[in-house]
Amino acid sequence: MAKPDQSVASLRMEDVGRHWEELHATKADDEVSWFRAEPASSLRLLEAWAPTHAGLVDVGAGSSPLVDRLLDAGWHDLTVLDVAATALAKVRERLSGDAGAVTYTCADVRSWRPGRTFAAWHDRAVFHFLVDPVERSRYVEAAADATVPAGVVVLATFAADGPTQCSGLPTSRYDADELATCFDAAFDLVHAEREEHLTPFGSVQPFTWVVLRRR
Ligand SMILES: C[S@@+](CC[C@H](N)C(=O)[O-])C[C@H]1O[C@@H](n2cnc3c(N)ncnc32)[C@H](O)[C@@H]1O
Repeated sequence: MAKPDQSVASLRMEDVGRHWEELHATKADDEVSWFRAEPASSLRLLEAWAPTHAGLVDVGAGSSPLVDRLLDAGWHDLTVLDVAATALAKVRERLSGDAGAVTYTCADVRSWRPGRTFAAWHDRAVFHFLVDPVERSRYVEAAADATVPAGVVVLATFAADGPTQCSGLPTSRYDADELATCFDAAFDLVHAEREEHLTPFGSVQPFTWVVLRRR
């Protein structure tokens, strides 16, 4: 795994929520590097690998329009989780009439205990912020607890040649085999691909996408 940028300090656990809260409160959706008007890769992979259309948690959902598109595509039992309440409030407001069809969970994924299972766990650009191996293990435990047997994790992180930091925080970078190793206590790698994400600022960020199946 490519090492995170040592010149960028990671935050203490209790400061993470405040950091993201401030970011969501001060930036418009299209003023952040990860903005994507249409979450095409997420949708395509979820449609291909989680065909039941039921029971999905989007971890670190931010204000992504993924949940809107999933509702349009007939998905149900959707949970959006984020450490920043402001992000979840934006989604709830945007969905208006459909807002009640979604469960909003304000939590830090590193300490979240799901208390139920899902057919699919989606994470675009959150796992790579976990630069501490203990936090990564906790995340994998939560994902394992939260997915049904044969359920899937659809995950995107910065690729091995991706950015070493994002939003003022250090990031870890991965190829598909490294992600498979991180999750191998409970998941098998079933699909991998690379994406070059074009940010609203015109720069390119290489991502690794993987689909992992719960044993
Ligand atoms: C880079 S953004 C990606 C947002 C969304 N997945 C997307 O693709 O547009 C990371 C998101 O994860 C949230 N986040 C960061 N650390 C988190 C944590 N430890 N637990 C839960 N959410 C977290 C942030 O508030 C932010 O909304």
